[in-house]
Amino acid sequence: MGRNQLSRRDFLRTTAGAAGVTLAASPILLEPLLIAVSPRAHPPSDRLRFASIGVGIRGGELLRTALACPGTEIVAVCDLYDPRFTAAQEYAQKQLPTTKDYRAILDRKDIDFVIVATPDHWHAKIVQDACAAGKDVYCEKPMSHTVEDGFAMVEAAKKYNRIVQVGSQRRSSIVYGKAKELYDSGILGQVTAIEAILDRNTREGVGIWPVPPGASEQNIDWNMFLGNAPKRPFDAFRFFRWRSFWDYGEGVAGDLYIHLVTGYHYVAGITAPPSRATTVGGLFRWKEHREVPDVLWTLYEYPDLRVGVRSNMNNESPDSTTFYGTEGTLEIKNNVVTVYPQNIPSSPENYPLQSWPSDMRNEYLKQWHKAHPSPAPGDFRVVESAQAFTTPHGYDDSLNHMSNFLESVRSRRPPVEDTEFGNIAAITCHMANYAYLNKTIATWDADGRRVKG
Ligand SMILES: NC(=O)c1ccc[n+]([C@@H]2O[C@H](COP(=O)([O-])OP(=O)(O)OC[C@H]3O[C@@H](n4cnc5c(N)ncnc54)[C@H](O)[C@@H]3O)[C@@H](O)[C@H]2O)c1
Repeated sequence: MGRNQLSRRDFLRTTAGAAGVTLAASPILLEPLLIAVSPRAHPPSDRLRFASIGVGIRGGELLRTALACPGTEIVAVCDLYDPRFTAAQEYAQKQLPTTKDYRAILDRKDIDFVIVATPDHWHAKIVQDACAAGKDVYCEKPMSHTVEDGFAMVEAAKKYNRIVQVGSQRRSSIVYGKAKELYDSGILGQVTAIEAILDRNTREGVGIWPVPPGASEQNIDWNMFLGNAPKRPFDAFRFFRWRSFWDYGEGVAGDLYIHLVTGYHYVAGITAPPSRATTVGGLFRWKEHREVPDVLWTLYEYPDLRVGVRSNMNNESPDSTTFYGTEGTLEIKNNVVTVYPQNIPSSPENYPLQSWPSDMRNEYLKQWHKAHPSPAPGDFRVVESAQAFTTPHGYDDSLNHMSNFLESVRSRRPPVEDTEFGNIAAITCHMANYAYLNKTIATWDADGRRVKG
């Protein structure tokens, strides 16, 4: 057993004396997955050549992440805004062919995979076209903009036999890996409730970003940006703050819920959308150039589990996901995973017994103690302390996620976050929005593959 593993025996440690107090121990450092940074030699013939489609904020990050993995080479970039090309070339530290039409990238025969980090309303079309053109794909989260898009993407990955990995990096995080190991060990007992929170309280966190100086139709392909969204005149706020508008994004559900949903679906092994969702929310503060709510609060019904998910853009609590079990609570807070025992000693039900006549009560207690003999002194099975695990300084789950994708591209083994998983996580977010927008309980119709009221 490795030093990061916690057995049920450790958890329910036998100690002499009275019931233990739950103390949070110093977190144990999790071992990083070294695969992404191992200095493996990759001859040019073995290099994976890639192009980035959408090299804005996240696309730029992913470009650097892919280049940090051994054996990769960037050969082209596609974007709709000219200055992004300069920024991408600075990251790549070389001149690169550039285009505003992703189809020119897909036509090239020397490209193994593409990274798709466009606004969400473009994911489905580009991923389907990339699969048809024989490219593997790393597609940013949320996988789909609509439920129909998601199923079309699943079909395309299957039909063209491509590796398509969705970019919710929590799926490769060592923090969530540890949480899953603990969850699967049964240490929590029966888990019937989960609560997940991802808040923001700054302009930067909410996505109220400055429009770059000089941005105009002269250096932006506005028509291409619109794609299949409704036609409208050029609007720089829509282009740079697309996540605030329903035509291009899914609001905080697609932006933030998706990370929470990915995390708890993975840890709890959930493989289907919830049966029902109900949401409250509103737009209270960040009203400038924004349609989507700044508070969203959803309750989901899964077969044996209820889940509350919340994103509040007007106050910031720590990023957390908590699993409530009959024998323990598992909390993931930022990058620390802690398991807290539920120290519930066995005792007679004294509270109602007060209302019984004394002879009835005494007889009941006599029988109860006979059935539940006290443990011998020094043999009390009590819980000693909480156990916490955390990441080494500078840990980057996106690096693990990208490296897992590259391993799949090389080995042709299924990716850690395939389109089936990404589709279910995205549908879960679409259900939250459906309930909010239609002021109804959203129901998942598995046969009809649609969300209903
Ligand atoms: N995994 C994460 O933690 C994470 C973080 C941020 C964003 N994201 C996701 O990454 C994606 C991009 O988000 P962002 O914040 O980088 O947005 P962004 O606006 O900064 O960048 C998007 C870029 O895509 C380009 N673009 C738009 N349509 C295009 C098209 N048809 N072809 C080529 N380029 C096109 C735009 O010109 C822009 O430069 C989104 O899906 C978002 O949800 C994921």
